[in-house]
Amino acid sequence: MNADLLPLWGLDPEITFLNNGSFGATPKVVLAAVAQVHREMEAEPVRFHARQLPGRIAVARESVAQFLGADPEGLAFVPNATTGVNAVLRSFPWKAGDGLLLADQTYNAVKQTALWVSRRYGVELQWAKLPFPLESADDMVAPWVDAMTPNTRLAVVDHVASPTAMILPVEKILAALHDLGIPVLVDGAHAPGMLPLDLQALGAEFYVGNLHKWAYAAKGAAILQVAESWREGLSPVCISHGYGQGLRAEFDWTGTMDPSPYLTAPIALDFWRKMDRELGGVAAFNHALVREGRKLVAEALGTPLPHPDDPQLYGPMAATLWPEPFSGDYRQVADLNARLYADHGIEVPFTTYDDRIWLRVSGQVFNSPADYERLADVLRGGWR
Ligand SMILES: Cc1ncc(COP(=O)(O)O)c(C=O)c1O
Repeated sequence: MNADLLPLWGLDPEITFLNNGSFGATPKVVLAAVAQVHREMEAEPVRFHARQLPGRIAVARESVAQFLGADPEGLAFVPNATTGVNAVLRSFPWKAGDGLLLADQTYNAVKQTALWVSRRYGVELQWAKLPFPLESADDMVAPWVDAMTPNTRLAVVDHVASPTAMILPVEKILAALHDLGIPVLVDGAHAPGMLPLDLQALGAEFYVGNLHKWAYAAKGAAILQVAESWREGLSPVCISHGYGQGLRAEFDWTGTMDPSPYLTAPIALDFWRKMDRELGGVAAFNHALVREGRKLVAEALGTPLPHPDDPQLYGPMAATLWPEPFSGDYRQVADLNARLYADHGIEVPFTTYDDRIWLRVSGQVFNSPADYERLADVLRGGWR
């Protein structure tokens, strides 16, 4: 781990932590800000929730909107990407027989939400088959158009795919789908803090993104951006006092909860900017770690790299091919993950796609090249 930067986190120094991708890791400065919000909340809960909170959420929203190039009028906080996706898919004006287009690499929780919608409203699920391994980001455009039908009403397009870590060319996919009149929900669970974003310029009808994965926020901070013409009729998963009073009123209060992840998001973004300045670009720093790290791991495993070294294709996460096939039983990957952790104190996810298993390494500023060497040493030694 990076001896200079690791002390800024509370991470266990005994663990080689190569999985920022799943949940992020919150720096101490943000946790201290969360604790301060808790103190203010408990000093006078009614003053905090009833009188101060609306204004404080508005201030935090402005700051986050600026970071993401979002329109604050159409920006809602949600606790996580799954909740944002649920709000959109469950509010959409479905009719029986409508089609919902997704990809086979879509995150499982999103697939399950789509399945619920399909059963509840008689919606047909349509699957774009994304190539992997692949040579170029452009290979990920045509499958969306190929999978749609005249009944397709909405597409859910990942910005960064979970099992393979591929960055999808969302601008091109959006252009292709918009040409055919299909509105798009972009699942950018990984994107804020990982990729430069200008959500207004991107022009998706709906965009969901986590702040707690790569933007250093406390867990429970995510956003939903909605284009103006889609705001009416969109409700949060949990309806409360603000029902029918506009997007912000509906989403700002969904019952009593701990809003500290939202309120401290600006502190997290300041920390991101500080890292960005000091390291000459967080994205480039993290990508460089993973670019070299994935080669070490693939060499140790004796498997080919699944895609070229193109920073348009992958950022601070990369998938390397595991030498044994996926049996179809998820206990196989859960067991690999648990044993590697128990045997060597290395935290790294095993993902699956088609009939293959992938080892998905992350790079975050607290990592160092020695972390990937350590993993490669274990694999070279024959650990399976
Ligand atoms: C592509 C994608 N979508 C959605 C999610 C869900 O994120 P959350 O658990 O924060 O809701 C993830 C989490 O890893 C993801 O990778």
